[in-house]
Amino acid sequence: MGEDRFYITTPIYYVNDVPHLGHAYTTIAADAMSRFHRMRGREVFFLTGTDEHGQKVAQAASARGVSEQQHCDELHQNFKSLWERLNISNDAFIRTTDPEHKDQVQTALQKLWDDGWVYEQDYEGWYSVSDEMFVTDPDEIESLKAAGKVEFVKEANYFFKMSAFQEKLVAAIESDELGIRPTSRRNEILGFLNQPLGDLSISRPKSRLSWGVELPFAPDHVCYVWVDALLNYCTALRYLNPGIPADDSYGPVWPADYHLIGKDILTTHSVYWTTVLMALGLPLPRHIFAHGWWTFEGQKMSKSMGNVVDPNLLIDEFGVDPLRYFVLRQMPFGQDGDFGATALVERINSDLANDMGNLASRVSNLVAGDGGAIVPGEATAATASILEEFENAATDYEKAFEEFEFSAALRRIWDSLSAANKMIQDTEPWRLRKERDEDPAAGALYDEVMRTSAIILSGAAALLYPVMPERMQTLWESLGWTGQLAELRYEGDSRLLGAPTGTVVKGDALFPRINAKAVPTFTERAAGLDG
Ligand code: MSP
Repeated sequence: MGEDRFYITTPIYYVNDVPHLGHAYTTIAADAMSRFHRMRGREVFFLTGTDEHGQKVAQAASARGVSEQQHCDELHQNFKSLWERLNISNDAFIRTTDPEHKDQVQTALQKLWDDGWVYEQDYEGWYSVSDEMFVTDPDEIESLKAAGKVEFVKEANYFFKMSAFQEKLVAAIESDELGIRPTSRRNEILGFLNQPLGDLSISRPKSRLSWGVELPFAPDHVCYVWVDALLNYCTALRYLNPGIPADDSYGPVWPADYHLIGKDILTTHSVYWTTVLMALGLPLPRHIFAHGWWTFEGQKMSKSMGNVVDPNLLIDEFGVDPLRYFVLRQMPFGQDGDFGATALVERINSDLANDMGNLASRVSNLVAGDGGAIVPGEATAATASILEEFENAATDYEKAFEEFEFSAALRRIWDSLSAANKMIQDTEPWRLRKERDEDPAAGALYDEVMRTSAIILSGAAALLYPVMPERMQTLWESLGWTGQLAELRYEGDSRLLGAPTGTVVKGDALFPRINAKAVPTFTERAAGLDG
């Protein structure tokens, strides 16, 4: 997209899965980024959805004794309702069983066929149903065979000439036309591309699997589920984005600025998807960002491991915004991190309840007790450096945020919150307030300390809104501001980084402290969940 547009996607999640913290993680990050760009005046298109074809879905539906479509119609709601609870502001939700998506997939497949990028050849090999993939690594085959997780398959197959694009793909990655992030992932893909690239089987015979999009040039085959799924990033633009004319292209929104994914699906995105786009004559996504995994007691959280943490339980216990904050703050985006309830409670109590909540309640209690006005005035030497530091922190925050360095970005805001708390401890405004009738200097310092704290809290509320939309709106209003943070625009909005002019009100605790002893250990609760 151009300067004023921003197109971001999450993977489309397997409809069969019960949504867990890993899925929530990607979606929360994409949501925070979307809100961030909207506040900076960009026209954002944020897409998420569900991946609904393939053997696993067919098997699960038949096990439940319902049709595949009914199964998908019911299960995709698990994702939709979690996204609503998590306050996800996606602009569209795509389902690969949408008739418009299927039509578009067929159009793309027909074009690949017409342009000579697809050929037919028999294929035999070991197929993993759980991954919907042929396994080629001999060691992996042996171990999967032992576990009964692969089956031997010989069938007519349609192949996409992926190998033809190897050089072009390497050049696109090296020149950063296709920006793979973080750099370690870029190197991983370049390493992978050091080996000759094979062609990609893009069909499954209907005799084995009928739950998929029919190949328009070979109606006894359906499209390999990954090709069907990846195409969602383009097909959605044709029917789920009302602002975009439905012409022959995918409109001005393509290419995506960011495909946000977990590192488990880096190859499918960086190699399969990009080469399909090349064959279709479409521009490549500007960036693919592969983040790390949430592990649980050291193991990747996944349904098959039976160790998933249900975000719904975490929301019930801790609220939406503390969870959103925790996942973005806890580990650098791109690295793995282990989930633990103790770490979550610690973050809530120290960062949110103490650093931010106490500062907010001190200011609102004191100022509201005086009628709620922040007294305007200039900063003196007593607070000038704190304000200057806050402006620096805000600049650093924006830069880091834009690069998906959420954790580092958030830390910078907390530097300022800590500085404001220290100022309060050092100046003891509750004492100054008692002395102000006799001592005008004490009164002036009191006003300045309240004003400086309110400026920092107001700026923090606006900056942190993309991460904690609901709580920051509450903080914003308690500081006397009116209007929705969602509608605030950085360019040209004079209220940003200024002192509140409305009436400060005393509110309930912004982030109640969690009694660590009363929290169930999510180890037990999670272990009891049926993925
Ligand atoms: N359906 C495919 C994606 C097709 S995209 C065209 C798929 N779905 S999935 O349901 O398995 O979701 C995978 C994504 O969920 C990961 O890429 C990642 O974004 C997120 N996560 C799943 N487990 C995760 C963790 N344990 N930790 C962090 N994120 C993980 O693959």
